Amino acid sequence: MTSRNQTLFEKSQQLIPGGVNSPVRAFRSVGGTPVFFKKGLGSKLWDVDGKEYIDYINSWGPMIVGHAHPVVIKAVQEVAANSLSFGAPTGLELEIAELINKLVPSMEQVRLVSSGTEATMSAIRVARGFTGRSKFVKFEGCYHGHSDALLVKAGSGLLTFNEESSKGVPSSAGVPEEVAAHTLTLEYNNTQQLKDLFAKMGDELACVIIEPVVGNMNLIVPTQEFLQTLRELCTKHGTVLIFDEVMTGFRVALGGAQALYNIKPDMTTLGKVIGGGLPVGAFGGRKDIMQCLAPVGSVYQAGTLSGNPVAVTAGLETLKIIQENGFYDKLTAQTKKLVDGLVQAAKEAGVTFSAQSVGGMFGIYFSEKCPASYDEVMQSNKEQFNKFFHSMLESGIYLGPSAFEAGFVSAAHTDDDIAKTVAAAKKAFLAI
Ligand SMILES: Cc1ncc(COP(=O)(O)O)c(C=O)c1O
Repeated sequence: MTSRNQTLFEKSQQLIPGGVNSPVRAFRSVGGTPVFFKKGLGSKLWDVDGKEYIDYINSWGPMIVGHAHPVVIKAVQEVAANSLSFGAPTGLELEIAELINKLVPSMEQVRLVSSGTEATMSAIRVARGFTGRSKFVKFEGCYHGHSDALLVKAGSGLLTFNEESSKGVPSSAGVPEEVAAHTLTLEYNNTQQLKDLFAKMGDELACVIIEPVVGNMNLIVPTQEFLQTLRELCTKHGTVLIFDEVMTGFRVALGGAQALYNIKPDMTTLGKVIGGGLPVGAFGGRKDIMQCLAPVGSVYQAGTLSGNPVAVTAGLETLKIIQENGFYDKLTAQTKKLVDGLVQAAKEAGVTFSAQSVGGMFGIYFSEKCPASYDEVMQSNKEQFNKFFHSMLESGIYLGPSAFEAGFVSAAHTDDDIAKTVAAAKKAFLAI
């Protein structure tokens, strides 16, 4: 009998390109049919056929307190009853701005938007307006949303670095080469490349945007030296340093990666957790830079639903919960327990495997050691990951459907969830 899931996917493909509203959901990388869900509670999800899963995607990060947390849901229901939107200021926006400033003090001023993509593209516009420069730097394998200038990969010959070869080429059709030409792409964790580029053209760079811990080419951690050098070079050349903490914000630590590595960026972008599962993004930073924004300054940026009261309420309530005593100690320990269990299970099965975690984020790799760059991550065994993924899915463990995505644990994940996951992994490792 055809499952309801299969029927929905077949119909969806007639009306929605690929049957999905965001490409990674389509399972293209791992093969098979994406799962259509109807309910989530705590660490669990249920699909349209009633099958239960332990969720390690957490809506790609936001659901840090677990699905349908009663406090968040109640607050959202109450605020929604007073209208879904005003398109005018509310006290809730001030409340969340104060909270963001308290938790991430480098964000002296903040503007709310409705997605991470908007946050990063707006931050870059502000940095360009502030410096009067056009070129900016990103790192290979980092993802900062889908705006034109950010859908850029490294030019050829990146590894034999010179200025010309770091000039980006579009990584998507529809992005003009002229737009990509302002985006310079360097290798993550490569301090020498950074020094070389700044020596040649530091004074022409508007900004550097970086995932301070990467979650978009699987999990990659920075070296302290790399981040420190980046901070120093940006300061020396008047280049705006943007930490894209859309994924890491309130995820790797309460104060984000900037607190963990003790580096103060000039600007920060947020998303995911600050919306608690509803669409909220934010960008902010030094007051002198943020004052460039309209209506006080000449850099234009706007949004009909920016600061939407219902979305902001979900974010506010989530941010209140994550400040509870011991929240991050428990989340970090639980995530570590998961990766340690997976590493041990792989060892017992004789499978080449490594894993690591930072706060509530984790990476699993079918490679001998945890990778430190895009090139290294690309060398991991994708076929083994795909088999592992499908075996886990069969056992009711919902992992990201790609070898190049980080995983997420929530505060709702129990010891029992972790034990069940490790037991399923033992079976999966033996089968590959
Ligand atoms: C680091 C980072 N920046 C920006 C984005 C874009 O955010 P959104 O999908 O909300 O547009 C993402 C999304 O995954 C992200 O991980």
